[in-house]
Amino acid sequence: MKLTTRKFDALIIGAGGAGLRAALQLSNADARVAVVSKVFPTRSHTVAAQGGVNAALANVLPDSWHWHMFDTIKGSDYLGDQDAIEYMCRAAPKVVYELEHFGVPFSRLDNGGIYQRAFGGQSQNFGKEQAARTCAAADRTGHAILHSLYQQNLRARTHFFDEYFAIDLIKDEAGYVLGVVAFEILSGEPIVIEAKTTLIATGGAGQIFRTNTNALSNTGDGMAMALRAGVPLEDMEFVQFHPTGIAGRGMLITEGVRGEGGFLINGEGERFMERYAPQAKDLASRDVVSRAIAIEIREGRGCGKNKDHVLLDMRHLGTDTIMKKLPGIREMSMTFLGVDPIEKPIAVFPTCHYSMGGIPTNRDGQVVVPVKDTPEDPVPGLYAAGEAACVSVHGANRLGGNSLLDILVFGRAAANHILDFLKENRYHRPLPQASVDQALERLSRWERKGDGEAVEPLRRELRKVMEDHCGVFRTAEVMQEGVDKLRVLRERIENAVIRDHTQTFNTARIEAMELENLMDCAMATMCSALGREESRGAHSRVDFPERDDERWLKHSLYSLLDDSMDYKPVRTQPVTVESFPPKKRVY
Ligand code: FUM
Repeated sequence: MKLTTRKFDALIIGAGGAGLRAALQLSNADARVAVVSKVFPTRSHTVAAQGGVNAALANVLPDSWHWHMFDTIKGSDYLGDQDAIEYMCRAAPKVVYELEHFGVPFSRLDNGGIYQRAFGGQSQNFGKEQAARTCAAADRTGHAILHSLYQQNLRARTHFFDEYFAIDLIKDEAGYVLGVVAFEILSGEPIVIEAKTTLIATGGAGQIFRTNTNALSNTGDGMAMALRAGVPLEDMEFVQFHPTGIAGRGMLITEGVRGEGGFLINGEGERFMERYAPQAKDLASRDVVSRAIAIEIREGRGCGKNKDHVLLDMRHLGTDTIMKKLPGIREMSMTFLGVDPIEKPIAVFPTCHYSMGGIPTNRDGQVVVPVKDTPEDPVPGLYAAGEAACVSVHGANRLGGNSLLDILVFGRAAANHILDFLKENRYHRPLPQASVDQALERLSRWERKGDGEAVEPLRRELRKVMEDHCGVFRTAEVMQEGVDKLRVLRERIENAVIRDHTQTFNTARIEAMELENLMDCAMATMCSALGREESRGAHSRVDFPERDDERWLKHSLYSLLDDSMDYKPVRTQPVTVESFPPKKRVY
């Protein structure tokens, strides 16, 4: 079969904020850029980001990038790489002002400056008073950013492959990544997209959990592609549970509600966060608030007839503030719960929100793999940015508002490095047919017939295993059972079939390949969590309740081969300022 082949300087897989920010930088520098996205670009998950993007602009309260850096390191439970965190916090004001110039309609202060709200884990003066660092476009910041970036890319003539599913990376014998094999969802036709550089910006893998805030499309496709190309995944045990998902459903209720003054109450009407975080209260770091909610419920102080959630109260903010600053939240609450938060509190429960781990990269977005004796070597031609990547600026727990920042800073940085790489690598390397054939094989496997199990029930089962065996509180026994269950599921998935070979066939093939990707990410998460015998950030081990810096101040690396684990040191040295050594985290 003759395959359609297209050639570009740079290929970007994923059209969320990281991918579009990188694409824009490249197109504006006259590189030939293609963006492949399985959904129409403006439906990428960045669109769902609500509360805002962090930058020390000091528009509302005094602020500095150094305080932002301190908060991010403390929030990461000291697992974040301090050089990368410094780089991100210093770059933050610049990338936000760039957005302003791209046309992002930020909410405004009376003096015309960008509106900033308080978010969890933020402080002035290295942990003293609350800061207000999150730049917001009401409660639809991601929507505003994504649409502006998309429009700018159209103007810059970025080439879009809309609704194409990336199957696998193409890699030659020398280790260069040379593009991807994809297929067009409409026609089912495979296509080879050759590129001198490939950036993975496919977002996270939140769909490995049953209850989550993520789009259905967040199936860890890029992470799994990297694993299959021999790249280990870093720190996958650190999965963020957002404290305020709509109870029983999972949709996000932004931290911005608490930033504006909303608070949590338990079944006894008590503002329980005062006990867990006497200073920051409801604006403690997310891992702290999520655990507090889980404990309240476990100890019988939940709300409702099943005592299985807590309440988020914002009535005291008043109609004006809610309509002006949180209109989307009101709409969601009315749609999904039938509750108008102007009149009644919202039922909430922690829900899977974000993967702190991902494809290991350096500050330039280059994918790096640990090599014995040298800490990390770049994979030539391969880059990653955003939630798919682990740079690592979030360590064991991400601060709210730092993920929009991460995608902008490192999407841009990766693009700048790609431009340098292109100067040194001016010609396409020969296409390795064996690698193309291997990717195509993955597609054709799903044409098998027979009486194997169907895809959807397996997906449901996988998500339930993750929820039951790798949730907010974890123990070795429960996780080992989880690993065993996942291994059995993995074999069943290998024998599964697509039952419905009718007009839905192409989307069914995507769901099948997404299931394989989910499986790889789930296994990476469970094995990494089982391996880490301490509690740090979002990873809470009942059997190892303390943080153990002596043994565990290191990043985990999961490889697909034999589900093996390896570790590498945390980079504790910033570039221009002194290091923040690990301390007890108190909020
Ligand atoms: O709560 C929120 O608005 C989420 C923001 C984030 O995850 O950064």
